Amino acid sequence: MNKDLVSIKDLSVPEISGLFDLAAELKKNRKSHEQMLKGHTLGLIFEKPSNRTRVSFEVGMFELGGNSIYLGSEEIRLGKREAVKDAAKVLSRYLDCIVARTFSHARFLEIVKNSDVPVINGLTDLLHPCQALSDIFTIKEKKGLNGITLVFIGDANNVLNSLLYGCGKVGIKMNIASPKGYGPREDILENSACDVKIFDSAEDAVKGADVIYTDVWTSMGQEKEYKKRLRRFKKFQVNSELLNLAKKDAMVMHCLPAHRGEEITDEVLDGKQSIVVDQAENRLHMQKAILVKLLRG
Ligand code: CP
Ligand code: NVA
Repeated sequence: MNKDLVSIKDLSVPEISGLFDLAAELKKNRKSHEQMLKGHTLGLIFEKPSNRTRVSFEVGMFELGGNSIYLGSEEIRLGKREAVKDAAKVLSRYLDCIVARTFSHARFLEIVKNSDVPVINGLTDLLHPCQALSDIFTIKEKKGLNGITLVFIGDANNVLNSLLYGCGKVGIKMNIASPKGYGPREDILENSACDVKIFDSAEDAVKGADVIYTDVWTSMGQEKEYKKRLRRFKKFQVNSELLNLAKKDAMVMHCLPAHRGEEITDEVLDGKQSIVVDQAENRLHMQKAILVKLLRG
């Protein structure tokens, strides 16, 4: 693997398979790898809030015998108290690895450029690679990867961009339904190897779905657009009527946190076909695999 995990686009198919195999092994024997990253320290630079990403990386590091330090927006105050490049250069003298969650992807790349230690993308406005890797690992566990169609309903955001790269690598087909003006970016579609169909109706997109995936309509950093987005996306809710149009055994996925009653109803999120909690658990096993691959090779 490269020094850093910036995007799934940069991973080869064997590297992705290697991560899946290692995550499966670490999951099976969860508490028996306490020596793997002994003496290593991970720093988490987070400009935005987090439950899953932060906790899974911190617990993962602990289970592998290492330490972690959380650096929230008030700790180092990137770009305010000191220049991003100064902070990145100094931190990479202390730490063995950095996870960064930034508002802008450009800022994340600036951290990468100025860090001597591996930097992992913990979400930017453009990408969320750790999420998509563990999501595809979850699909593989539940259904295998052959002949799968993943239908994404909603905003073409960071999660969708990483799913497009990831699904393209493993041969999952995608249908995407979004309101006009909120569909996938041309550059991401061009750079992804994914077999994609674009729809303007959620009902048409879900036919034949093995997996229905959705995410919030308003991502972190877009709060000012909340009311407008609520109006624009209202026909793109994942609810029971929509679920009934998919295959009978279709699974429902959401990266969480969910805005219940907006992009997804309680009934579906809490229903039998929802695998969101298994999906969230797998973030832990995948983060551990990523850490081991980057730090131990
Ligand atoms: N899915 C995800 O990344 O969750 P957090 O924002 O809580 O880390
Ligand atoms: N698209 C969401 C994902 C949160 C995990 C956001 O960026 O806020």
